[in-house]
Amino acid sequence: MQIFNTQHSLEQYLLGIRESHKTIALVPTMGALHEGHLSLIQQAKQSADITICSIFVNPTQFNDPKDLEKYPRPLENDISLLKSASCDILFLPSVEEMYPDPNENWQLNLGDLETIWEGEHRPGHFQGVTQIVYKLFTLVQPDFACFGQKDFQQVMVVQKMIDIKQLPIKLIISPIIRDQQGLALSSRNMRLSTEGKTKALALSKALRYVQANFKSIATDELTQRGKEIIHSEEGVTLEYFAICETKTLQQVNELHADKAYVALVVAWVEGVRLLDNMLLNE
Ligand code: PAJ
Repeated sequence: MQIFNTQHSLEQYLLGIRESHKTIALVPTMGALHEGHLSLIQQAKQSADITICSIFVNPTQFNDPKDLEKYPRPLENDISLLKSASCDILFLPSVEEMYPDPNENWQLNLGDLETIWEGEHRPGHFQGVTQIVYKLFTLVQPDFACFGQKDFQQVMVVQKMIDIKQLPIKLIISPIIRDQQGLALSSRNMRLSTEGKTKALALSKALRYVQANFKSIATDELTQRGKEIIHSEEGVTLEYFAICETKTLQQVNELHADKAYVALVVAWVEGVRLLDNMLLNE
């Protein structure tokens, strides 16, 4: 696996790749890699000739400085995981490399996506995400970019950016990888104790309940029951739980057979913010 730390060195290397008409898939990450990330690498390898993974803990998308500080950075382990997964290239830049001008301006009109759910609860987060993903897209110019359904709203935001900027990039979305008990894998899970991980199962339990019962229980009642499953687990603090239309992420009170729905949840366990979702009628 080749490792590049600067935009210039990666750019130079990619010139040769493009001349030989090879296709490129990009997997942007913030490191602390787990099976979820590795599933994206696998997907990338199946989709394109060359797979590039980026690891960059992007400061502009953290609305909470403590979260940025505590973000895990097990770099040696990440590198060996990527090598075992046969990733071709790792892009590992510094903050100065990606943000030579710390006051750089970035503003994209993301519409409602900016003000609902993650947009509402993490102000500025999606501006930071699009800012870095746009830099990576313009640098790498991938044919495919691989993202996880785990961050449902992030996928919508990145697709919106692709549309606005008219980028010739196809998004490939991979399903959520969970541990054996159902907990969605996340880099932040590393900060949970064994007991915390057990408590955190309340999220997937609530989502599975809603998925199993959405045809037989009225939507507002179902939402209420989902919330109750989470409230009943001591030490789990609910931030939001909602059943939404997948196209708009607007919360619904009634379901229609011809539309697709997703249940979204965010809750806190041991000071860690956990995010999960489940499609109801796949
Ligand atoms: P990060 O949280 O490292 O996630 C990188 C990618 O892995 C995202 O597309 C995310 O949805 C996916 N992912 C995380 N957990 C997963 C799981 N359990 N199953 C499947 N896929 C999973 O998302 C980011 O980084 C950043 O916002 C980034 C896009 C890199 C921009 O900085």
